[in-house]
Amino acid sequence: MNQPRQTFGQRTRIALWLAIGGLCAIIASLPLLQSPAEQTKRHAAAVLANVPPGFGLYVEDRMCAECHPDQAASYPRTGHAHTLRPAAEWQSAADLDGKAFPDPERGIPYQYRFDPQKGLSVTAPDRFGNESFPLRYAFGSGRRGVTFLTLIPDRLGQTVGVEHRVSVRSGQSGPVLELAPGHQGRKATQNVEHFGRVIDAATLARCFDCHATRGEIREQEIRGLEPNVGCQKCHWPGRGHVLAMREAKARGEAVPTRPPPPPLEQIRACSRCHVQAGGDDELEAMPGHIRSVRVQASELQQSRCFIQSPNRLGCTTCHDPHAPVSSDPAAYVQRCLDCHKPASSAVCPVSPKTDCIRCHMPIQTAENEIQWHDHRIRRASKSELQNQ
Ligand code: HEC
Ligand code: HEC
Ligand code: HEC
Ligand code: HEC
Ligand code: HEC
Ligand code: HEC
Ligand code: HEC
Repeated sequence: MNQPRQTFGQRTRIALWLAIGGLCAIIASLPLLQSPAEQTKRHAAAVLANVPPGFGLYVEDRMCAECHPDQAASYPRTGHAHTLRPAAEWQSAADLDGKAFPDPERGIPYQYRFDPQKGLSVTAPDRFGNESFPLRYAFGSGRRGVTFLTLIPDRLGQTVGVEHRVSVRSGQSGPVLELAPGHQGRKATQNVEHFGRVIDAATLARCFDCHATRGEIREQEIRGLEPNVGCQKCHWPGRGHVLAMREAKARGEAVPTRPPPPPLEQIRACSRCHVQAGGDDELEAMPGHIRSVRVQASELQQSRCFIQSPNRLGCTTCHDPHAPVSSDPAAYVQRCLDCHKPASSAVCPVSPKTDCIRCHMPIQTAENEIQWHDHRIRRASKSELQNQ
């Protein structure tokens, strides 16, 4: 009884495999039945639709300019395009040469040196004589400020960061040296802390994740550093896209455009760095950063404008991610009036047509004069208005 049953089973299996094999062969040969033009089109559409972020290979961002000249032309003027570089390449590095800064809390003066070969460094002569500490990376576009970071090995040989205690803020009349945000009241318990705050490996990786497009921390270097928030940081590693689009272009085929991502999805993409409420545990390690970084996304999402117009209000309602942020308050009024017009939404009893930002998204100031605009759009109280 057993014998034939087994044979039968084997046969069925073989037949099944043959059938599957045949099916595979048919599926595999399907593209051959299409015209080359159809194949490319399908391929291009599949690439556009399916390449998830973080998947595939990068090309240089400048290749995007070939087909997206508008975005590529305005992008270099954004803060995203200038938020990180080796300190030696920072445009104002040479201006720091010879400058001194007395630490207001610890009493010791810092002295800065710039050497075109060796880059930027700092000494604390009162404590360590001539021994200098290198300042390797400069974070921040300088629109608000620039902070220096150096990679060193810790006792276990792991790479950690040292965020220099002094940063450069853009003041009314030129750059100002001052204690970096979050450094006030810190005690130095080991020698290196006289130069800055030690940042553990995980936190260090986050600095680069938000300020660089890619790069790998290895020993005391960033291998393959592509600084700044580049095209492929917000979109996807673009090699597959570029190849498919070039192919489509060469064949003169139209590629279907896709609608922009819905606002909530897009806010999530921005708030990967402009942190939203509840998502800022990781920034506990960066107290000075919390105020400036976490505010916009979490505040906007608490506004009635956001809550009561489901899936309509996103970051790109007011900001073109490819162009520098406009500092002209009038540039935003039309965005408000797109919704706040008679018959569709509430109209302002105080100023129905102008100047919305001054009263409803006023400037907020934190320690170190860090300023941002209140993104929790709300009814302004009289006392708040008197402070304007
Ligand atoms: C050879 C031409 C070509 C190159 C190079 C190219 N693109 Fe595109 N891209 C297209 C075409 C065509 C479309 C589809 C039509 C459209 O949306 O403009 C497109 C669409 C897009 C879209 C919107 C569509 C979507 O699915 O969200 C983004 C974003 C984009 N490209 C980013 C990039 C980036 C980033 C680079 C550089 C890494 C790049 N492209 C390089 C041709 C190109
Ligand atoms: C990978 C991290 C990251 C992502 C994603 C990101 N940002 Fe930024 N953004 C930054 C950093 C870092 C800065 C600070 C630039 C600087 O040094 O001044 C910044 C600055 C800005 C500014 C200040 C204006 C300027 O140009 O300096 C605006 C506005 C802004 N981002 C909007 C957005 C929007 C809208 C999105 C989503 C479409 C977004 N960001 C996504 C990291 C990011
Ligand atoms: C979660 C993402 C994130 C992490 C992690 C992060 N940053 Fe930022 N950083 C930002 C964003 C977003 C801005 C822009 C804030 C704005 O304009 O509102 C910014 C701005 C800055 C600026 C410009 C000054 C300012 O306050 O706007 C400096 C300097 C800076 N970051 C340094 C660092 C350093 C050093 C680390 C690591 C200790 C770090 N950042 C970690 C997202 C991040
Ligand atoms: C800070 C994040 C961010 C960066 C950096 C960025 N983009 Fe975009 N891009 C977006 C978002 C968000 C959209 C969707 C816009 C919308 O909602 O209308 C978009 C849309 C696009 C589109 C579709 C057409 C359009 O403008 O809506 C193209 C093409 C594109 N980006 C290319 C680029 C290129 C090229 C670069 C680099 C020069 C770049 N992007 C850098 C966030 C970014
Ligand atoms: C996508 C549409 C949309 C946009 C854009 C928008 N709002 Fe609103 N806003 C609303 C809705 C919906 C409400 C809820 C009340 C109503 O139905 O009018 C609201 C409520 C308000 C309120 C009352 C808030 C409260 O807490 O009582 C103010 C003030 C306000 N908006 C101002 C503005 C300003 C200023 C701008 C531009 C910077 C703006 N809005 C942009 C849709 C929008
Ligand atoms: C209703 C309009 C509106 C929306 C929506 C909006 N912003 Fe803004 N944002 C502004 C205005 C106005 C400014 C002030 C520009 C200036 O004068 O420098 C600003 C400034 C900023 C800045 C620079 C620092 C500051 O606060 O002054 C960042 C960063 C920023 N926005 C991020 C975002 C992000 C991220 C989102 C989405 C969560 C977003 N914004 C949504 C209107 C808007
Ligand atoms: C001089 C300051 C000021 C300016 C400028 C201003 N507002 Fe207001 N707005 C107020 C005050 C104050 C209130 C609350 C009035 C009240 O509660 O009676 C208000 C209320 C509102 C409301 C809620 C109305 C309601 O019935 O719930 C909306 C919406 C609004 N403003 C939108 C705007 C828009 C859009 C602009 C620009 C076109 C603007 N505001 C300009 C001060 C201002």
